[in-house]
Amino acid sequence: MRFFLDTANLDEIREAASLGVLAGVTTNPTLLARDGGDPMENLRAICEVVDGPVNAEVVGTDAETIVREGKKLRLLGDNICVKIPMNKEGLKAVHALDAEGIDTTVTLIFNPQQALLAARAGATYVCPFVGRLDDVGYDGLDVIRDIVEIFETHDIATEVLVASVRNPIHVLEAAIAGAGIATVPLKVLDQMIRHPLTDRGIEQFLQDWRKLGVDIA
Ligand code: E4P
Repeated sequence: MRFFLDTANLDEIREAASLGVLAGVTTNPTLLARDGGDPMENLRAICEVVDGPVNAEVVGTDAETIVREGKKLRLLGDNICVKIPMNKEGLKAVHALDAEGIDTTVTLIFNPQQALLAARAGATYVCPFVGRLDDVGYDGLDVIRDIVEIFETHDIATEVLVASVRNPIHVLEAAIAGAGIATVPLKVLDQMIRHPLTDRGIEQFLQDWRKLGVDIA
């Protein structure tokens, strides 16, 4: 499994990149609004920092506008992946952009049937939302398991980009299911790094080394 950072915040992106685990970024209009400023300039700056796909979402509601917006977003960076909500107009736009060799992510996926259609339309990634499904009483991870199995059974190359990740268990179960990518907030990345026994172990080793009175550096 590879990791994308689910944020539009440049400092967070730089921090994740410095860890060597950053394979891409996902943004959405909510995340860009949270960060403020000019969203286009923000996306351009993110593209320069990230060595991998940067998902930028369209807001058009008809296929023609979505395609136009997608091409405009692509001008911000060669690594822009055009993120398109799942519906009929979205699928038409995915099909048109795919024909021009432009990568797309179909977002707001909540069941395997939507994922299958998006893949067949030519999506590079499908983006199922685990946390939002859990929030309304479904098991989001079941949807991930089904999508991965269907894509394997039918030899579909579209990648499963697990989104709306709220905790490390979501990441663990999605990885076991075989999803290729999880897009995670920095908070979840931090939670994955830390373990109380690791912290206690480091403290103990430092205390014992101090007794030796030797400076390694
Ligand atoms: C990312 O691509 C999605 O837009 C994001 O993960 C949604 O997360 P949320 O459900 O926490 O808003």
